[in-house]
Amino acid sequence: MTKNKMTTKAVISTAVLTLAISIVPTGNAFSNIEFGLIQAEASTATHVAKGNLNLRSGGSLKDKIILQIPKGGKIEYISGSGIWYKVKYGTTTGYVHSDYITKIETVAPETPKETSATHFAKSNVNLRTGASTKHEIMLQIPKNGKVSYISKSGIWYKVKYGTNTGYVHSDYLTKIETVAPETPKEIPATHFAKSNLNLRTGASTKHEIVLQIPKNGKVSYISKSGIWYKVKYGTKTGYVHSGYLAKIGAAEPSKYPAPSTDTPGKYVEDILIVNKKYALPSTYNPGINATAKKALDAMIADAKKQSVTLKNTSSYRSYWYQNTLYNNYVKKHGKAKADRFSARPGHSEHQTGLAFDLGGVNQAHWFEESFANTKEGKWLASNAHKYGFHLRYQKGKEDITGYMFEPWHFRYIGEANATKIKASGKTLEEYFDIPGK
Ligand code: DAL
Ligand code: ZN
Repeated sequence: MTKNKMTTKAVISTAVLTLAISIVPTGNAFSNIEFGLIQAEASTATHVAKGNLNLRSGGSLKDKIILQIPKGGKIEYISGSGIWYKVKYGTTTGYVHSDYITKIETVAPETPKETSATHFAKSNVNLRTGASTKHEIMLQIPKNGKVSYISKSGIWYKVKYGTNTGYVHSDYLTKIETVAPETPKEIPATHFAKSNLNLRTGASTKHEIVLQIPKNGKVSYISKSGIWYKVKYGTKTGYVHSGYLAKIGAAEPSKYPAPSTDTPGKYVEDILIVNKKYALPSTYNPGINATAKKALDAMIADAKKQSVTLKNTSSYRSYWYQNTLYNNYVKKHGKAKADRFSARPGHSEHQTGLAFDLGGVNQAHWFEESFANTKEGKWLASNAHKYGFHLRYQKGKEDITGYMFEPWHFRYIGEANATKIKASGKTLEEYFDIPGK
């Protein structure tokens, strides 16, 4: 920036410490509570009705009929081993004759079942012979019962429910979410199911099951909704509990793996987030991260082979060092200006031990936007991701990251993360939809 800022540059480079933190492999560790939830999710529908089938209040033909399960209706087995099974259908529990149900086979990717259902009932709703309440009720569709839309008659929809065709008031129907329009046609599979897994219409177990993905079935990740992932499976898009997914290729050892998540702070997936919104405690003093340092050394060595000389101009900075640095900038430039290029204590990625400022042979471009136009700056912009480094404060993204373009500041997040985020052209904040300022 200015001459004054240049003077401080020399100070920054003395802050390199070499205390490494222990590396713990990042696995899918769940608390008991979370695991229980996942177990419940994986074992819902077990049987399907072979034909229309009565759900009764008890285990005999004398017991009252609660409702009629249509052919193909999905049932959850509860108990019983003789002729009558206690089951759950939608939200209703009752008894069915076991001769009339078949065990669900998992759906093969190329032949997804239930392709025709378009809507489900928000609550119990009457299926009528015509498009008004004056028409006779044929049967009652239970809450969550699936129908296939045929045509429209004002606010009434002609639909097919099981083998019956009739009319339903459209207010009581919700559209089953199908393939999102923004989804690219050919997206590579990113995850596989660790066990049989329900694909649902929304991000909770209350949402309707679209189909069951068999163990090892491959899905493509689209987006995240808390612990649920929106995914594509075959031609279907829906939601699955992420605890039942494993990343494809995650087991393969990466040369530049994501760093340990065994440190305090805000994480998104396995990435520690430090920005104007998320801070580290003043007591957190990890020194340079050993995994990140190894990747940095490899990157500098490879660049050198290509006649690109990279200099590490600043790496780990403690909370208190950042405090001094920030206060000096405020004294020289004022708060508003300092906040555009210097993090407040606790908010600097340098405190994680995972961030590095890099320069080239010409010191005039160190900590300057002009570094982007140097040989070294260009090399980093094209290659740093291969070593796990992410260009954190990109051009034109100050409104999102809270910082001006810093072509020199690289943050280690592991090769896989850095590669996919670079391909997206996004900042960490945009990629994970998290606040930055
Ligand atoms: N220059 C970056 C924002 C920092 O101070 O961490
Ligand atoms: Zn930096």
